[in-house]
Amino acid sequence: MAVLVTGGAGYIGGHMVLKLLDENEDVVVIDDFSTGQEWAVPAQVPLFRGDMADRSILDAIYSEHDIGSILHFSGSIVVSESVDLPLKYYRENSCKTLELIDYAAGKQTAHFIYSSSAAVYGAPGLEPVTETAPSAPESPYGTSKLVTEWMLRDFAASNPAFRYAALRYFNVAGADPLMRAGQSSGVSTHLIKIAAEAATGKRDGLQIFGDDFETPDGTCVRDYIHVTDLADAHYCALRHLRAGGPSVVANCGYGSGYSVRQVVDAVKAVSGVDFKVTQAPRRPGDAAMIVADSTFARTKLGWSPELDNLETIIRHALEWEHKLIDRQIETSAK
Ligand code: UFG
Repeated sequence: MAVLVTGGAGYIGGHMVLKLLDENEDVVVIDDFSTGQEWAVPAQVPLFRGDMADRSILDAIYSEHDIGSILHFSGSIVVSESVDLPLKYYRENSCKTLELIDYAAGKQTAHFIYSSSAAVYGAPGLEPVTETAPSAPESPYGTSKLVTEWMLRDFAASNPAFRYAALRYFNVAGADPLMRAGQSSGVSTHLIKIAAEAATGKRDGLQIFGDDFETPDGTCVRDYIHVTDLADAHYCALRHLRAGGPSVVANCGYGSGYSVRQVVDAVKAVSGVDFKVTQAPRRPGDAAMIVADSTFARTKLGWSPELDNLETIIRHALEWEHKLIDRQIETSAK
């Protein structure tokens, strides 16, 4: 049966599509191209343009394909925007996912994998966080993800034919090692992407938001996970559900934390470019430290990440940034 990937033209969804193709799965993509790129979807993949909660498009997909599982990546992801536009986040991330779950269950789609976030934990303190830690999101973005996890939990409890995996992403970065995909969206807010843009001259430099946190060097500590390992974690979750395993909630991070300053220094070292770095005030809502305890994914889902190395993540992010620049030059020369 085919796997439907919502947001399959986006950054993480795009890497998932590659993983599924590498595993010889039948893949179908739906994307509204709000941030995704049409060229990012391999030509052999059936592609539906539109909103993943639109029943007429879902009808078209289900009439042409036998969908056994949904991997749901579409959604809005900018934490600061969610503070200004909370209803957008509840609509996009919660209400529309409700519609999708309802539709999928009506069509007997048995497995649902959801892109959740470490943002559900809020500010968890200075230790690696396990899935059983209290959820206390500090932004509408985090709450919209948590509400959706609850919907999945309650719906699965009422409907044993439906099982799900909610994967809580930590800080996703890097690009496909074969350079078939990477982060291409025009607007960047994530540290490694911004640093890669600074190192390749796409922007003047970078600001460090806050240096007075309770961390070893005063800047925030995060757990950076390679996007290809994240796609692998989804495939492990899919295999788990297909094998009859119970619904799960799993952290996706490596368990090692790097400060903003360490990341910036690493990007300078890997690229060999000493771009400008300035100090700026704290960004609202940033927690001092968020690092995953990923024992559950490793032991219960059989996840065995292969790219757990900050330099590798940065090298791939930089290579992709160069590829985007070459692509732009090629396109403008045509
Ligand atoms: N940062 C800077 N300068 C920048 C960009 C980021 O100093 O130009 C800092 C941030 O203040 C933060 C750290 O780099 O301390 C990481 O910031 P990101 O924006 O890259 O990522 P976040 O940690 O804010 O958020 C990401 C995802 C969320 C997820 C969270 C979990 O966007 O969806 O990781 O840790 F919930």
